[in-house]
Amino acid sequence: MGETDGTLWMPEQISTFAGEVDWLFYFVYWVSVVFFVGVVGSMTYFAIKYRRRDPNEVPLPLKEHKLMEASWIVVPTLLVLLVFNWGFKTYLHLSVAPPDAYVINVTAKKWLWEFEYPNGVKTAGEVHVPVDRPVKFQMSSTDVLHSMFIPVFRAKHDVLPNRYTSVWFQAEKEGTYDIFCTEYCGQQHSGMLAKIVVDNEAAFGEWLASQDVGNLSPLEYGERLYTQQNCAACHSIDGSRMVGPTFQGLWGAQRVFEDGGTAVADANYLRESILQPMAHIVQGYPAAMPQTYSTLDEAQVTGLIAYIESLAQ
Ligand code: CUA
Repeated sequence: MGETDGTLWMPEQISTFAGEVDWLFYFVYWVSVVFFVGVVGSMTYFAIKYRRRDPNEVPLPLKEHKLMEASWIVVPTLLVLLVFNWGFKTYLHLSVAPPDAYVINVTAKKWLWEFEYPNGVKTAGEVHVPVDRPVKFQMSSTDVLHSMFIPVFRAKHDVLPNRYTSVWFQAEKEGTYDIFCTEYCGQQHSGMLAKIVVDNEAAFGEWLASQDVGNLSPLEYGERLYTQQNCAACHSIDGSRMVGPTFQGLWGAQRVFEDGGTAVADANYLRESILQPMAHIVQGYPAAMPQTYSTLDEAQVTGLIAYIESLAQ
């Protein structure tokens, strides 16, 4: 069951088990269509054919038809057993990753997807995977229930806090595909998207090397994080007002808080604002920053501070 182009109902099949999932789906679908048409069709036909024509009409006594009664017990039972057996096998295939799968750690948080590779490389919003090789996403959430869905792979699984869940797949075709969050997780749930890029082995290796932060200065790393961590959704870098204060000219500026206190925006202040956003709320802004950034590591915090410092005027 190789890959096929998408149809009106279904996206392209890009993973090794996409065909299997679709076959099962279409089997259940067509069995339902046949039974629906058969049941509703004969019901309509009989209702018309045997309608009461005369108010005094009395129906004839019913005669038992053993074969018919047996058939409507046996046929659906066999169908249910078939679908159960087929579905269970497919479910196991989807659930149990091959032991040699390449493992990528996935963290879901309001409202982005983060990915961590075995060599420590971290990305967000975009994940690269090698083609023709089993890949396993080991997933957890830092806050609420999210759900990882990659339609072209027919791979989908909930992502929970305090627990690991996983999905695996083996992509059969290079390209860039969509990842969605399919569990309502708050205000920006519909914007919790990511791209999955399937590369050939050589391109994947090159990309992974290019992402190694060991080669980046803190400033370059911070600049990358600004986009990857979606800071840009709430903080501008050109002075314009968004949900949160702009980063332009923030470094070294005097901050006035809702409780009347003040502070100078130095490294310690920025660090606290990233890791404990509710500690001080700048006057005139909502207390809207998600707590989820408290999981950023030292290098990431240092990078972001360096980036904000570079935007001082
Ligand atoms: Cu995360 Cu919806």
